[in-house]
Amino acid sequence: MAFVISIFGCGLVLGALSILQAKVAYSSSFDTYYSPLWGLPHLSVNPQGSEAQLQMDQSSGAGFRSKLDYGSGLFHIRMKIPNKRTGGILTSFYLTSAPDNQEPGNHFELDYEFLGTNGTVQTNVYNNDEGHREQSFKLWFDPSADFHTYEILWNSHQIVFLVDRIPIRVFKNNSAHGITYPSKAMHIEASIWNANWAGVVDWSQAPFIAYYQDFGFQACSAQVGGDVSGCGSEQYLWNRQDYWELKPGQKLEMENYRRLYMSYDYCAYASTRKPECSFNV
Ligand SMILES: *[C@@H]1O[C@H](CO)[C@@H](O)[C@H](O)[C@H]1NC(C)=O
Ligand SMILES: *[C@@H]1O[C@H](CO)[C@@H](O)[C@H](O)[C@H]1NC(C)=O
Repeated sequence: MAFVISIFGCGLVLGALSILQAKVAYSSSFDTYYSPLWGLPHLSVNPQGSEAQLQMDQSSGAGFRSKLDYGSGLFHIRMKIPNKRTGGILTSFYLTSAPDNQEPGNHFELDYEFLGTNGTVQTNVYNNDEGHREQSFKLWFDPSADFHTYEILWNSHQIVFLVDRIPIRVFKNNSAHGITYPSKAMHIEASIWNANWAGVVDWSQAPFIAYYQDFGFQACSAQVGGDVSGCGSEQYLWNRQDYWELKPGQKLEMENYRRLYMSYDYCAYASTRKPECSFNV
């Protein structure tokens, strides 16, 4: 994965050069990729478009979404969660196939959600259903002290969650074992909101502010009507064989990380386990 990032880095540098040479704009500014979604007065973007802030207080949270829908890609954002200690506040970055402002119903969704501000990050996968595939992790840093990169690789072979380029979770395409795999166009959302199930909010500490940066990402956009049939093409870097499974070093890294830091795993309990648990390891 480090390889891709460095290629992307080069892309940015080349983009910057071409601005000088040909006045071709290459931007990773907020407006290029994202639009406000809800809670507008609680969303602010700096004039350069390089940082967005989402504010949560007792009146509202806020959220933004990608302008387009996608069928595969290498999605990421840099995020810093609120630095005031409380439960109940959720700070998120995720992909979802659910239409805006509707009850999601059965849908696909790939989540990073901070539960409260104590540094526990929960990942979840909705696989055209109600989800309940939570895996939660402690991080090896304080996510409220600085920006860190939260990334999701999605191709037709695997979905990988990476934090600062370290893979922490893989959801494989196990259709050979009869397991559903995300097949519909998804867009990105990021939001701050509150939920009783994530603990009690200490409102005396409000407002809670989440910060986002680094808005550019690489992905295959869906055609009008949500057709993603072209998004498996190997013209896209993230669909090439290198990305079909983790490299041995990455697998080791992930196993070590999960052994040390995973605090909840739906696969660990008979009552929450799902069929893919037998095949994702
Ligand atoms: C899952 O993998 C199978 C091949 O094993 C492939 O035919 C199918 O298109 C993949 N599903 C998705 C949604 O990418
Ligand atoms: C952090 O908060 C979450 C959600 O309230 C809770 O499940 C978890 O146990 C807490 N972790 C620590 C280290 O306090």
